Amino acid sequence: MSTYRLEDLAQYSDRLRTRQGEALNVRFVEPGDTDELQHYFRSLSTRSRYNRFFGAISELPKGLLHDFLAVGERERFTVVATRAVDGFETIVAEARYALHEETSTLEFGLSVDDRWHGHGIATALLKNLECRAAALGAQHIFGDTLRSNQTMISLARKSGFAFVNHPDDWKLVRFEKEIHVAPKDIPCASWRLAALSRQAERPSASA
Ligand SMILES: CC(C)(COP(=O)(O)OP(=O)(O)OC[C@H]1O[C@@H](n2cnc3c(N)ncnc32)[C@H](O)[C@@H]1OP(=O)(O)O)[C@@H](O)C(=O)NCCC(=O)NCCS
Repeated sequence: MSTYRLEDLAQYSDRLRTRQGEALNVRFVEPGDTDELQHYFRSLSTRSRYNRFFGAISELPKGLLHDFLAVGERERFTVVATRAVDGFETIVAEARYALHEETSTLEFGLSVDDRWHGHGIATALLKNLECRAAALGAQHIFGDTLRSNQTMISLARKSGFAFVNHPDDWKLVRFEKEIHVAPKDIPCASWRLAALSRQAERPSASA
C-alpha cells in the first residue's frame, strides 16, 4: 500500500523548472481539473495523442477520464504540470503512473503540450517521477512507447533508460531503469514525506 495521505494530496506537490528556468507546479490532479484536463488532451496534436494512447482518440473517453481523476485507486496516480498563463493555472503536461507492488516497479506514461515541446519539461517530469517511484518503494521504473516515437525513445535514452522488447506487442518498445537514488539527490515532497513517516514509525533508541 502506498503511503500517500489521499485526503491531503496538495502536500505532494513539487516545483520544477523548464530548461529556460520557468517554474512549473507538479501536483496530483483534482476533481476540479476535469474540464481543464479534457481541454488539455483535446488541444494536443493528433500525433501526440496517438503517441500517448497508442490509438486515435480526440479526448479522454468517459471511463478513462474517471480513471485519470481517481488518484490512488488501485495504486494509480495522475499528476499535472501547470504554469500560470494570464493569471490562470494552465496544464502544460501530465503523467500517469501505477505502482506494481508485486514486482516493485512503477509504470508510467506522459505527455507535454505541443507548444511546450523541447523546453525540457518531460526531462524534468521524468526525474520527478523517479523520485515519486522511490518514495513508493519501487526499484525499477518503466514505460512503453511506439517504436516509431523517436522523440520518446531519444528522451528515454538521454534519461538513462535501457530498451527491451515489449512482452506482448511488437509495435511497442519498453524502456526501463533501475532506481538509484541518494536522498540528497531526490528533492520531491513524496520522498521527504515518506522518509518522515518511516522515521516516525521507527521505535526510538531510548524507548
Ligand atoms: C515525448 C515528449 C513527452 C517529450 O517532451 P519534451 O518536453 O518536449 O521533451 P524534452 O524537452 O525534455 O526533450 C528531451 C529530449 O527528447 C528529445 N526530443 C525532444 N524533442 C524532440 C524532437 N522533436 N525530435 C527528436 N527528439 C526530440 C531530445 O533528445 C531531447 O533532448 P535535447 O533537448 O537535449 O536534445 C513529447 O514529445 C510528447 O508529449 N509527445 C507526445 C506523447 C508521447 O509521445 N508520450 C510518450 C509515450 S508515453
